[in-house]
Amino acid sequence: MTIYLDNAATSYPKPESVYRAVENILRNVGANPGRGGHMMALEAGRVVFETRETVADFFNIADSARIVFAANATEAINTGLVGLLNPGDRVVTSTMEHNAVTRPLRALQDRGIEVVKVPADRQGWVDPAHIRQACAEPTRLVVLTHCSNVTGTVQAIEDIGPWCRKQGILFMVDAAQSAGVFPIDVEEMAIDLLAAPGHKGLLGPQGTGFLYVRDGLQLTPLIYGGTGGNSHSEFPPEQFPERLEAGTVNTPGLAGLKAGIEFLNEVGLASIRARESELLEQLISGLDALAGVEIYGPRSSSNHGGALSLTFAGLDPSQIGFILDQEFGILTRVGLHCAPDAHRTIGTYPQGTVRVSPGYFNTPADIDRFLSAMSTLSTRT
Ligand code: ALA
Repeated sequence: MTIYLDNAATSYPKPESVYRAVENILRNVGANPGRGGHMMALEAGRVVFETRETVADFFNIADSARIVFAANATEAINTGLVGLLNPGDRVVTSTMEHNAVTRPLRALQDRGIEVVKVPADRQGWVDPAHIRQACAEPTRLVVLTHCSNVTGTVQAIEDIGPWCRKQGILFMVDAAQSAGVFPIDVEEMAIDLLAAPGHKGLLGPQGTGFLYVRDGLQLTPLIYGGTGGNSHSEFPPEQFPERLEAGTVNTPGLAGLKAGIEFLNEVGLASIRARESELLEQLISGLDALAGVEIYGPRSSSNHGGALSLTFAGLDPSQIGFILDQEFGILTRVGLHCAPDAHRTIGTYPQGTVRVSPGYFNTPADIDRFLSAMSTLSTRT
């Protein structure tokens, strides 16, 4: 039996209701939302609207129209950064970011945007005091990943956001690893832009994600095209979400995303978190008992998201991943995890790590199987 421990890349499996929701749309509500006046188009539009409302409730977003659907967190982050920043703007970020943040920022540097990277410590922790110091010069935006996809380290966005708001600095959060894992409240945390995927902790299908943009902020679109209204104009509409949502959205995926969030609401984020923390603790204590294993990131499960990185003396991470997959049927992700800066920070560049990321549907028996496989591997080095 295959054991899936790669939930930081995409959560798998999904709740049954997610599969049913996607199939229902594909079979029964196949029309284009917001593009026609016939009853099936209206029904598809209702599905998209209800998903927007469900996302809004989950993150305490007052106006669901400020949620722009995207294909993934990367598209959402690009929409936010490229749409917001202008030549001369200064951006503060960290060395724990995923390429979804570092690459658009690097491209924006070539357009005259200044980028300052605040170093994290070896555990992947970004000290809020260091963010404050980095903002000593006039800064337009602080952009941070909430939870590292390499070490699971959780940043203190609840401190950083309100501080930024007081300073008049915009605050953007990449919630790729935290949405559906930790509570996020855009009001309490003073988040101006929130980007998240639908296919990880929110338990929706791939091809879904969103960007929340605080009311009052206007962005230049990344993508231009049809928006279902104002067709006479050569220009995109001013109003959200249409302004940043040109082209047909992923209605089947969004129906699945709604079902995924409803599942989280039914089970409760605290219960989901409790199960994931137990698995993480089992993982950490089991790995600690194995000679030659080094674990990166925080040791406590309370400030640790789903991703746990490790190396094993004498074996390259890619070898370990291959053996786990081929011999033991255990699926992990190895290498740099699209986050080379994070690996530089924790001292695992360029070889990377083996990343294990359990999810809600894993069991203690899965972790035992993984630990037993690692124990077998240790006898071979
Ligand atoms: N960003 C995803 C990961 O960390 C795909 O694996």
